[in-house]
Amino acid sequence: PSETGRVLSIQSHTVQGYVGNKSAVFPLQLLGYDVDPINSVQFSNHTGYPTFKGYIGSVSFLDTVLEVVSKLRSVNPKLIYVCDPVMGDEGKLYVPQELISVYRERVVPVASMLAPNQFEAELLTGFRIQSEGDGRKACNFLHAAGPSKVVITSINIDGNLLLLGSHEKEKGKPPKQFKILIPKIPAYFTGTGDLMTSLLLGWSNKYPENLEIAAELAVSSLQALLQRTLNDYKSAGHDPQSTSLEIRLIQSQDDIRSPQIKFKAEIY
Ligand code: ATP
Ligand code: PLP
Ligand code: MG
Ligand code: NA
Ligand code: MG
Repeated sequence: PSETGRVLSIQSHTVQGYVGNKSAVFPLQLLGYDVDPINSVQFSNHTGYPTFKGYIGSVSFLDTVLEVVSKLRSVNPKLIYVCDPVMGDEGKLYVPQELISVYRERVVPVASMLAPNQFEAELLTGFRIQSEGDGRKACNFLHAAGPSKVVITSINIDGNLLLLGSHEKEKGKPPKQFKILIPKIPAYFTGTGDLMTSLLLGWSNKYPENLEIAAELAVSSLQALLQRTLNDYKSAGHDPQSTSLEIRLIQSQDDIRSPQIKFKAEIY
């Protein structure tokens, strides 16, 4: 009986393949949302191919996003702004340096939920994140700066991945924190960060008081999709370690609509 949720999704568009809006719009629609995409750039293909960098690549674009958020909030005070602060990965910055302070000073304070990776969480907090403890501290720091929900989508620890989630249910009270362990698949995927953020948005809006369930559902969908992607490449005779893989998004629609929870959150 509830009203259909509506998502304004500001991300890159690729003609071929799945990153940015191409990996976020379809799953959000499958989860029952009306989606209004704004394409920040249009590329032929994603950056796993001979390179192209884009994302939100300028301060003026980010300024415009902030204006949109503020305008929409004035009309709808309950607006949820989910921000994936796309700045870099694995120690490499892929946007201009001057964006870091804009994210820190102006974007983080207005975000409802933040979904950085390990490197982005380091840039936003100024801490090194090398352990679970460091990750939890980074989440606490980010809560103090604004968002009540923080998900560090992947931290590399001992060759595996750790997702860390943190929900500050009441301002100033200790947040509820959890982790999900994800065995690392020996292959390189593109579009998975964007897909992860869209699934977290989709599920956390259905379970607003239960970020760990939203994360279990999101990770379980994503891992089923990655296994399918791997198997499909292997059965077509490709070596999955030799190239960046194109995710099998459309083929995984059942895993997106009704994931089987195989990845459980451990609450701290
Ligand atoms: P962003 O791309 O938004 O900056 P990110 O670096 O965390 O964030 P990814 O590295 O794509 O993005 O990871 C997002 C999610 O994708 C992880 O939480 C994990 O579930 C999944 N994932 C990505 N690569 C792998 C892999 N090689 N093996 C297993 N899971 C993976
Ligand atoms: N290529 C392009 C054009 C993108 O816009 C993005 C992310 O926004 C990526 C690649 C990387 O996607 P992901 O971090 O989800 O792997
Ligand atoms: Mg990454
Ligand atoms: Na992320
Ligand atoms: Mg990304």
